[in-house]
Amino acid sequence: MQDAIRNYEDVDSWKTCMFLYNSALKEVGTKLEILNDEFHHVHQYNPIEHIKTRIKTPESIVKKLKRYGYETSIENMVKYVNDIAGVRLICSFTSDIYRLAEMIGNQSDLRVLSIKDYIKHPKESGYKSYHMLVTVPIFLSDSVVETKVEIQIRTIAMDFWASLEHKIYYKFEGNAPEYISEELRECADMISALDDKMLSLNETIQRLTKSEQKNEVEEKRIEYFT
Ligand code: GTP
Ligand code: MG
Repeated sequence: MQDAIRNYEDVDSWKTCMFLYNSALKEVGTKLEILNDEFHHVHQYNPIEHIKTRIKTPESIVKKLKRYGYETSIENMVKYVNDIAGVRLICSFTSDIYRLAEMIGNQSDLRVLSIKDYIKHPKESGYKSYHMLVTVPIFLSDSVVETKVEIQIRTIAMDFWASLEHKIYYKFEGNAPEYISEELRECADMISALDDKMLSLNETIQRLTKSEQKNEVEEKRIEYFT
């Protein structure tokens, strides 16, 4: 971002921006932890396995602006770079992803700007995840600033694939040989099959547990009346 920061005023607005994005990460992070805790309180189950947050580095911000063809400036960064504050939610099952997305959409103080469902529509690479771009209000002493946060929701299996694919992509600087890209797409299919299998296994287990609980209640009722 050095090009964009030429005087004290710029340093000040850069610091203010980063302060806002950091605050937005804290707000959204806490909000998601509370939703997860409440879900556990009501259903004895955690939809979120873990939460990762990160702020985009100045180098990546500049790189992105260049790729989009915009001049490096703080104004352009705020306007066009949507993932400066990023939250990643890792869940066990695909069904958790949609449950969480709905819970996030229902938060009255969050505004959903856009949704990209790369689970229903995977990317060419095989990438799968559910992306939400939201704004969260940051309450300052004299104003309220709506600040953008990118939320990525994926299963543990999708995260495993994305992390390895990312490393390989970087190793080849985006120009991996076709057979490697093809193998990665095959791995993505295997990951999806695994996610589907785990989901149906979980549904079976839940059905069994429910019918066991029902039987226990039945037995207790019989004991009571005999
Ligand atoms: P970016 O400029 O890459 O952020 O693209 P975009 O602004 O069009 O957003 P997109 O929804 O395509 O991707 C946003 C983020 O999703 C990326 O920064 C990555 O974290 C992740 N992502 C998207 N595509 C891939 C992919 O093919 N492989 C991996 N590993 N991650 C991806
Ligand atoms: Mg990105």
